[in-house]
Amino acid sequence: MALLSIPFSFQIWFFSFFLLAVLASEWIDYPSDGFATLTHYSLPLDYIASCGCTADSTHYPTAALSQMAYGSSTAYGPACGRCFNLTLLNTFLSVPPFYPPKPKSIVVKVTDLCPLSTTGWCNATTNGPNAAGNFLNFDLAYPSTSIPSDFFPSNATYYGYTDFGVWNISYGSVACSNWEGWNNDAALGSVTGQGPESVCCAADPTNSSNTCTSYSDHNGIAPDTTTSSGHSIPRPYLFTLSFASFMSLLFESLLC
Ligand SMILES: *[C@@H]1O[C@H](CO)[C@@H](O)[C@H](O)[C@H]1NC(C)=O
Ligand SMILES: *[C@@H]1O[C@H](CO)[C@@H](O)[C@H](O)[C@H]1NC(C)=O
Ligand SMILES: *[C@@H]1O[C@H](CO)[C@@H](O)[C@H](O)[C@H]1NC(C)=O
Ligand SMILES: *[C@@H]1O[C@H](CO)[C@@H](O)[C@H](O)[C@H]1NC(C)=O
Ligand SMILES: *[C@@H]1O[C@H](CO)[C@@H](O)[C@H](O)[C@H]1NC(C)=O
Repeated sequence: MALLSIPFSFQIWFFSFFLLAVLASEWIDYPSDGFATLTHYSLPLDYIASCGCTADSTHYPTAALSQMAYGSSTAYGPACGRCFNLTLLNTFLSVPPFYPPKPKSIVVKVTDLCPLSTTGWCNATTNGPNAAGNFLNFDLAYPSTSIPSDFFPSNATYYGYTDFGVWNISYGSVACSNWEGWNNDAALGSVTGQGPESVCCAADPTNSSNTCTSYSDHNGIAPDTTTSSGHSIPRPYLFTLSFASFMSLLFESLLC
């Protein structure tokens, strides 16, 4: 009963803060090689995304990484600048699943954050994977001037469409010297003039101490489950529902 005398809004605030603070400390620690899902999103050419990598990085293949693996809920995180070799394995939402006749790979640099949501492909937390059973989702900036428009294999005659939306992939951490933008100095590092606190894009964090820290950990910012940052993430209605049921359970137990 005592808790009921505390203003309701304060309780909402307190419990949201508590739930999010618990999430914030639980970044996903992923192996250097494994399986993941791959989606794609629109990133305008020369757009400076969450890491603050230079505008020229968009002239080469880049991707956003799902938030809890990215390591920050806003701005830069430990994944910024990391390079991964992504290999398309199969689609699994199509009926039947599509296995491309020839394997296709692409080396991307992580320059952006794919925000955490309760559903969608970037929703994995240490408590569980996304709907495909994976803890990582790479969101490829595509279409891109650096990626052929037929990068994603398809069979339009058979399926009736060319864009499967989401792929099962294997990923491997690689040195950024394998990235197409490696020899262009303008495509490496962070934008300047933004202040050291707001941007971090390591040229090659692989096997080096030159890595980015977690902006949100340093600033006490909890995971943001509501922003979409240009990604088509469904609104987190499940959170609202489960939070509401959590609160009503709490109230029921207090009233009894
Ligand atoms: C990427 O993976 C593919 C498939 O395993 C492999 O053939 C290719 O050599 C790899 N590329 C790099 C740069 O590691
Ligand atoms: C992510 O969303 C899917 C539904 O799209 C759900 O099955 C899965 O449990 C969610 N994962 C987490 C960790 O919430
Ligand atoms: C992804 O590929 C791996 C290796 O073939 C397989 O074990 C896994 O079930 C696949 N996942 C999906 C969602 O297709
Ligand atoms: C498309 O799928 C059909 C049916 O499986 C197959 O016969 C055909 O060879 C495929 N075409 C291509 C280009 O993969
Ligand atoms: C990082 O170092 C380890 C051990 O020295 C090595 O096995 C691995 O290939 C290196 N990775 C890259 C991407 O250079």
